[in-house]
Amino acid sequence: MSALRLAAIALLGVWHRDAAAQETPPPAAAPPVSFARQIAPLLTARCAGCHQPAKAGGKVLLTRHAELLSSGDPDEPLLVPGAPEQSALLAVLLPREEKPPRMPKGAAPLAAAEVELLRRWIAEGARDDTPAAAATTFTMEQPPVYAQQPVITALDFSPDGAMLAVSGYHEVLLYSVDPSGRSATLAARLVGLSERIQTAVFSPDGARLLVVGGSPGRFGEVQLWDVAQRKLERSLPLGRDTLYGGSWSPDGKLVAFGGGDHSVRALDVASGELVFFNAASEDLALDTAFSIDGSHLVSAGRDRALKLFQVATQQFLDNVTSITPGALKGGLQAVDRHPREDALLIGGADGTPKTYKMHRTQKREIGDDFNKLKGYAPLAGRLFAAEYAQDGARFVVGASAAGKGEVRVYALENEAPLWSLPLPTAIYAATWRPDGALLAAGGFDGTVHLIDAASGSVLARFPAAPLQP
Ligand code: HEC
Repeated sequence: MSALRLAAIALLGVWHRDAAAQETPPPAAAPPVSFARQIAPLLTARCAGCHQPAKAGGKVLLTRHAELLSSGDPDEPLLVPGAPEQSALLAVLLPREEKPPRMPKGAAPLAAAEVELLRRWIAEGARDDTPAAAATTFTMEQPPVYAQQPVITALDFSPDGAMLAVSGYHEVLLYSVDPSGRSATLAARLVGLSERIQTAVFSPDGARLLVVGGSPGRFGEVQLWDVAQRKLERSLPLGRDTLYGGSWSPDGKLVAFGGGDHSVRALDVASGELVFFNAASEDLALDTAFSIDGSHLVSAGRDRALKLFQVATQQFLDNVTSITPGALKGGLQAVDRHPREDALLIGGADGTPKTYKMHRTQKREIGDDFNKLKGYAPLAGRLFAAEYAQDGARFVVGASAAGKGEVRVYALENEAPLWSLPLPTAIYAATWRPDGALLAAGGFDGTVHLIDAASGSVLARFPAAPLQP
């Protein structure tokens, strides 16, 4: 940074203080800048994707207050409380001579008001007002320590069936599952920024794991992990709330997800660019699925609608389900696309699994539910999981009712289930091993159940997370 620029910042700081001292009565003093409410969200949104424990650009960490004082180059401290002009954190945000600001790397510079906020916070002493609960840092080296099991919200088998991804707190746990389905051993812990994990799904080739989640009221995040290296390839913090319902395009080039801001987005995996954005939903979009050829995307929302979008134009095309009030009771929670055709399986608050055609072949008549293919025998409570088997002939659903749960498998042609397994806890996730012989299910109590897909009997149970690190 040029000496001139440094002097200008220093002067600005002095001028502010003098001006405030001379004016009588003083203007209503702006409250001090809050790290927890103002600075941390800014750093998370604009910087933490590249500066977090699992991915530390230039060895700089920008996710917690303590890191601002300890990480980076000791000769150029990130943060000198009270001295913005000596803080590298601010220097990298300002243009140098003719050159644009160094950070955020490869992205639009921060707005002047954001830079000023950071300057003011440093000038005011760079105090940490983070609530104790949010102050802990978890890293790959220091993974979360569990006093009780995490609620399981996501489960997925790798395409070769050898690995099961299980959502934890601040992490996804990878288990290698014995082919017999009778045992599993913890193989890796993928610890990231997000406290809550809503989705963990392997890419079609198994090389990557998509993790979607966030920290409620703070940020949403999309993570892409290199499975073999156990390495975070990309972290994209987005918005102020948890993201949901991640899915891969069949060619593995895009990932889609829904957001608390009622939007559906898709990200180009190679470039990290957002290539799709649509906010047509009236409520949370909780799950997504691509069409067979990747040209279309559907979202299932708490607003009860199954919405169809065209990926290339980012346009909303149709409500797949009926939009007649009362036709669908309660919101939708899960959607999955059939492995070989553009048919959709949905589950939600009414407890009834249903299948739909993705594309309308007849003009919509007011109140019709033309795309509906079939409804199945309902479960008690709400459905949180719904997934077709790779054979395309069966599907599994997982339900929660008054603290208890149920896993059911249906054959597509029959309304009644092939089998039903009541469980003593709410079920939020259920998934097939790709060979169709084994299922995994889990939910509120943090127990993973490995279930024989032919009979519905439990072959093994194990806790999602180790109680000792
Ligand atoms: C796209 C990734 C990316 C983003 C986003 C990003 N950084 Fe960086 N940052 C890096 C990398 C990589 C380095 C290492 C030096 C380099 O390659 O330029 C770095 C280095 C730094 C350094 C060390 C000093 C230096 O210039 O090398 C600071 C300080 C820094 N970043 C601050 C920030 C801040 C503040 C933000 C958000 C406003 C931010 N970065 C956003 C990737 C990023």
